[in-house]
Amino acid sequence: MIPDSRQMSYSRGEITTFVMPHMQNVLGDLFGGHLMALVDQAAAVAAIRHAGCAAVTASIDRVDFRHPIPVGALVTCYSSVDFVGNSSMDITVNVFAEDVRTGQRTHTHVAHAVFVAIDKDRRPKRVPRLVAETEEEKRRYDEACRYRAQNPRAR
Ligand SMILES: CC(C)(COP(=O)(O)OP(=O)(O)OC[C@H]1O[C@@H](n2cnc3c(N)ncnc32)[C@H](O)[C@@H]1OP(=O)(O)O)[C@@H](O)C(=O)NCCC(=O)NCCS
Repeated sequence: MIPDSRQMSYSRGEITTFVMPHMQNVLGDLFGGHLMALVDQAAAVAAIRHAGCAAVTASIDRVDFRHPIPVGALVTCYSSVDFVGNSSMDITVNVFAEDVRTGQRTHTHVAHAVFVAIDKDRRPKRVPRLVAETEEEKRRYDEACRYRAQNPRAR
């Protein structure tokens, strides 16, 4: 049974992997397309947890590439559902690279995605309301609300 509402903290996602040689670009850093795939997977974790059912990528409308991630680094993507509509969920993914020799962590990427929950016939399905509890969660919710207002859906 899917509840009427879920706390923001319920659906937070995290995936970690090594940057392997087959994932590199010509400069020896993580290829942007692989980064996008990791972002999509991390966003899916949060979306599917919140929805409690299947959800699909509707858009990845922003990815800020702040720093390159070298081969051999650990890369971790943290995802959170920051806002929901009826069937859609706005998800932020923050990416960190870690140099395992020094332990130094760098915030390398920020991405925004929209996922849509679907039923067994692949039609959009209502998701639980989102409950922001902490000051930080309320800030993220307000920010996502403003982002939606400023970025109406492309059709
Ligand atoms: C995403 C999808 C389910 C939307 O279906 P649809 O019949 O167009 O849905 P609607 O127009 O009724 O919109 C449903 C919701 O999706 C949102 N939506 C639709 N297209 C969107 C887009 N491009 N970006 C952001 N949100 C979008 C709508 O705003 C709406 O949100 P709400 O329910 O919270 O108000 C459908 O377009 C689809 O299946 N796309 C392919 C998804 C896919 O293959 N992804 C990659 C593999 S996971």
